[in-house]
Amino acid sequence: MSYQILCGDCTQKLQQIIQKVDLTFLDPPFNQQKDYALHNDDMPEEQYWTMMKEVCRSVYNITNDGGSIYFMQREKKAEFVLQILRETGWEFQNLIIWKKRTSAVPVRGKYSKQYQIIVYATKGGKAKTFNRLRINPELPANYKFQRENGIFVTDVWDDIRELTSGYFAGNEAIRKEDGERFHKQQAPLALILRIILTSTNVGDTVLDPFCGTGTTSVVALQTQRNSIAIEIDPKNIECIQNRLTNISNADLLQKYYQEYICTESLSKIWGDDFGIEMPQKPNLEIGLFEEILDVMTEYY
Ligand SMILES: C[S@@+](CC[C@H](N)C(=O)[O-])C[C@H]1O[C@@H](n2cnc3c(N)ncnc32)[C@H](O)[C@@H]1O
Repeated sequence: MSYQILCGDCTQKLQQIIQKVDLTFLDPPFNQQKDYALHNDDMPEEQYWTMMKEVCRSVYNITNDGGSIYFMQREKKAEFVLQILRETGWEFQNLIIWKKRTSAVPVRGKYSKQYQIIVYATKGGKAKTFNRLRINPELPANYKFQRENGIFVTDVWDDIRELTSGYFAGNEAIRKEDGERFHKQQAPLALILRIILTSTNVGDTVLDPFCGTGTTSVVALQTQRNSIAIEIDPKNIECIQNRLTNISNADLLQKYYQEYICTESLSKIWGDDFGIEMPQKPNLEIGLFEEILDVMTEYY
């Protein structure tokens, strides 16, 4: 099992990847004037979508047949995501609604926004891997009977909270010494865990071209998948490296195991040989440093 962390612009780095990948999680900056150290988040729309199309095409080229892409975006940009995925060869499977369990921001003249979209598409008409996960959410108040075996995950995900500051802030968000969030767009482990468990098997390779704090790699490592992470900002690279070489308690995944316990063959999908007791942190050995910031690390 291995992970690679590549520092640089993913439009270039993707051209250099020669191995094939099975799943890509795409969580790019949304071009909404956020403050990124090494990225202009206020591009002309056309330039932004041309770049995203280039990324989708490059990812397609290195994806195994039947491999998957999950492309996260603001809901009002759904039409562009669908269009560029189609134009770069991807086949649409689902438009996932991630209802982030945070308060809706009130707006005038239209409904308040409370979700984000994730478009799930495959290379070819059928996914080579689609593990049907089962969860067991709380019964609505007017339901009489407990479910015997949970329910299959659908295309509406309303059980995963976005990482926030303030009242609901947990310990998962990485913080600087002054308590401020290190990266405001850090994705929840639970979100990426669901994607990786559904669309890959143990030993597959997961790619994240805009990997920020490296959440995808953290999940891949603990579920015995290989990973390739690309990030333009060296400060984030250092964070990813730290996160992977010393998996913190906040980053341990076993707290989510019980949520999926109704899933058939969960242990095999999860890459967990020891059932529900999986307290060990992965045993890491630093391997080869390609360049100062182009890092490939191997473990086991
Ligand atoms: C929305 S954040 C991703 C957050 C990530 N999912 C996490 O859990 O931390 C997007 C990231 O893409 C990086 N980025 C922006 N442009 C890039 C590019 N051209 N190539 C690689 N990374 C880029 C930014 O620095 C930022 O960290």
